[in-house]
Amino acid sequence: MAKIIGGLTTSHIPAVGNAMAGKLEQDPYWKRFFDGYEPVKQWLDEVKPDLAIIVYNDHGLNFFLDKVPTFALGCADRYQNADEGWGIPASADVPGDAQFSWHLAESLIRQEFDMTTCQEMLVDHGFMVPMNLFWRQYEQWPVKAIPLAVNTVQHPLTSAARCYKLGKALRKAVESYPEDMKVVVIGTGGLSHQLQGERAGIIDVDFDLKCIDKIINEPEWMTGLSNDYIMEKAGTEGIEVIMWMVMRGALADKVDVLHKHYHAPISNTGAGVLLLTDAAAQ
Ligand code: DHB
Ligand code: FE
Repeated sequence: MAKIIGGLTTSHIPAVGNAMAGKLEQDPYWKRFFDGYEPVKQWLDEVKPDLAIIVYNDHGLNFFLDKVPTFALGCADRYQNADEGWGIPASADVPGDAQFSWHLAESLIRQEFDMTTCQEMLVDHGFMVPMNLFWRQYEQWPVKAIPLAVNTVQHPLTSAARCYKLGKALRKAVESYPEDMKVVVIGTGGLSHQLQGERAGIIDVDFDLKCIDKIINEPEWMTGLSNDYIMEKAGTEGIEVIMWMVMRGALADKVDVLHKHYHAPISNTGAGVLLLTDAAAQ
């Protein structure tokens, strides 16, 4: 049986892609941010997951505004990164697992999450920056990955509550896969940021820290928040935090915190990292 062995979160800021390409990890601006990933990288190196389900939003590389699915699942054996205009060098293709993806699609759709299935998918910084943050030290990608895209760009958007339920359905889907596989679920994006308009540049550290705490200890609190409220507090792009709720829903009601890190600002964003597992004592 496949098993979810952990839930990770990370921001997916494109400037981080540039910093990794330029090997700026020890630079004073970046050091504390990158140091926040070392414990997670160590853990991943120890547990060696077979597969990562990466919950991210496409920012216009694969889906443009004319066609945006609310939820889309990659169902391919490889995913290609491409130039999306941020100056980040394109990364090597990431291996997928089409057979596992189709199993997830069937199970999720049976559980009333009607995923768009994508047999070809270009993956942008929302997916590649997390892949690089966790695994760039390997010569070849050491995990397979499955992109799960959530629309956080073109309104109307889904909600934190719905993302949490999707995570719970995702857990059932993973656990009904007959092959033994170690799976991690990665929620990407957030925390607070707004990239355009009069409030461009806002970051709300208190709200970010509260979200981190609530996602760990009381995810139901997040499910009660409206998108308008989240965007008022965290900025229009801060709504990406709802994708962390897919990760949280995929874990047990109680979790152990193996690692927690926050740093603001990085580029325009409050950047958070989490490593959670099902609590040893439930
Ligand atoms: C930034 C953050 C994002 O999540 C994104 O998609 C683009 C830019 C930023 O902080 O610069
Ligand atoms: Fe983003």
